Amino acid sequence: MMQEPSDGDSAVPHRTAAVVLGAGKGERMNSRFPKVLHRIGNRPMVLYPLDAVRAAGAGTCVVVAGPDMAEVAAAVAPVPTTVQAEPRGTADAVKAARGRIGPDADTVLILYGDTPLVRPQTLEAMIARRREGSHAIVVLGFRPADPGGYGRLVRGGDGSLEAIVEATDASAEQRRVGLCNSGVMAVDGAVLFDLVDAVGSDNAKGEYYLTDIVGIARRRGRTCSVVEAAADELLGINSREELAAAERIFQRRMRRAAMAGGATLTDPGSVWFSYDTVLGRDVTVGPQVVFGPGVVVGDEVEIRGFCHIEGATLDRGATVGPFARLRPGADLQEGARVGNFVEVKNAVMKSGAKANHLAYVGDAEVGAGANIGAGTITCNYDGFRKARTVIGDGAFIGSNSALVAPVTIGERAIVGAGSTIDRDVEADALALTRAEHTAVPRAAEKIRRRKTAGGPESRGAKK
Ligand code: UD1
Ligand code: CA
Repeated sequence: MMQEPSDGDSAVPHRTAAVVLGAGKGERMNSRFPKVLHRIGNRPMVLYPLDAVRAAGAGTCVVVAGPDMAEVAAAVAPVPTTVQAEPRGTADAVKAARGRIGPDADTVLILYGDTPLVRPQTLEAMIARRREGSHAIVVLGFRPADPGGYGRLVRGGDGSLEAIVEATDASAEQRRVGLCNSGVMAVDGAVLFDLVDAVGSDNAKGEYYLTDIVGIARRRGRTCSVVEAAADELLGINSREELAAAERIFQRRMRRAAMAGGATLTDPGSVWFSYDTVLGRDVTVGPQVVFGPGVVVGDEVEIRGFCHIEGATLDRGATVGPFARLRPGADLQEGARVGNFVEVKNAVMKSGAKANHLAYVGDAEVGAGANIGAGTITCNYDGFRKARTVIGDGAFIGSNSALVAPVTIGERAIVGAGSTIDRDVEADALALTRAEHTAVPRAAEKIRRRKTAGGPESRGAKK
């Protein structure tokens, strides 16, 4: 969920600024799309660090993107984007933000767009540490299970930070250091750009490493410090596998929040949320339920197993599933019921309306208390354009009916089972379109006798 921008320190507003880096190619993702647009909880990952910096009080924020990344700019808008002409390393990326950060910023947070799980409280602790100790840089460290390719934090005897060494440039001994660089930094705004200007590219990758600013600041007599946070906040996403690992952590947080908010999840591990899913109190969610973006669920709603729900609103006491699909614009009012193998799209089910089995309700309005029989289809599309079906309060649509839109079924009207309705039906009328019923006495018996003439042996002989 998006957090409102905060003013930070109320006496001196916007003293914290933030830069989020997203210009890297993300080669290891093996994708046509910029890495930071890959999604966590159905939302581009770069939006999470932006939320976090704003919640931690950053005023000015800027995202650094590559030259062919209009999609990144569109995704982060209205947050402004600045372009790094070539991906020459993280220090070079920060230089692209020069002139975008006001002189009033005493602390500049730098986050990587591929590290989406960091929490605002952690950033607040870093800002506080930087201000209290007048440190040039506070780096957010963590101890991943596998330090692998992360930069290592080299500390002095007093625990203060001396340098960051990239894994590719580290000695065997340095690689044994378990404390790693998350990439998140809080830097003294007065010296940030002087420090990045001093970074060279004499290293294994020939890149300008932002991490070098720690050693540079130390050589200039400034102090640097480390704040540590949990590894599940700081996973950096470089591959599809790491994307899946971050999604798991994100889902675990969402499930916990849903339960803390008063929802029962019978099998939490199999319920998948989007970043903006809202569940009310005393909601029950069965196993294997997927929430796409834009779902708002009111109190006391029951969602049975195996439902797929996206862009839908479910008011108090509605019941859905098992095996229901609610697509964008599905609006279930109080106590409405949508049962198994029913698909609802861009349709209102007014209070107490029911579609309990095997139906498609699309581009429709279903009146209060109306009943949609099994196999009913609102034929909303004629191959050229979409049209609406309106069903009045208390109407009854018999099973296996086709309602050919645009069409209106009046209040309390009854549509007989198996009808194809392409004209409006007035209130309280019965509408029925059926072929004549024909029944020929004893005809079945005759057919059976003819088909079995000669008995089973003769049929076997024909083979
Ligand atoms: C970086 C850190 C490493 C740290 C790790 C944490 C450096 C040199 N290394 O390594 O110490 O442990 O993150 O996850 O900073 N980017 C640009 N422009 C560039 C290069 C990168 O904007 O020229 C952006 C990327 O889009 C990405 C972020 O910076 O969002 C980090 O880049 P990446 O190449 O993933 O760095 P790592 O090798 O993971
Ligand atoms: Ca990375």
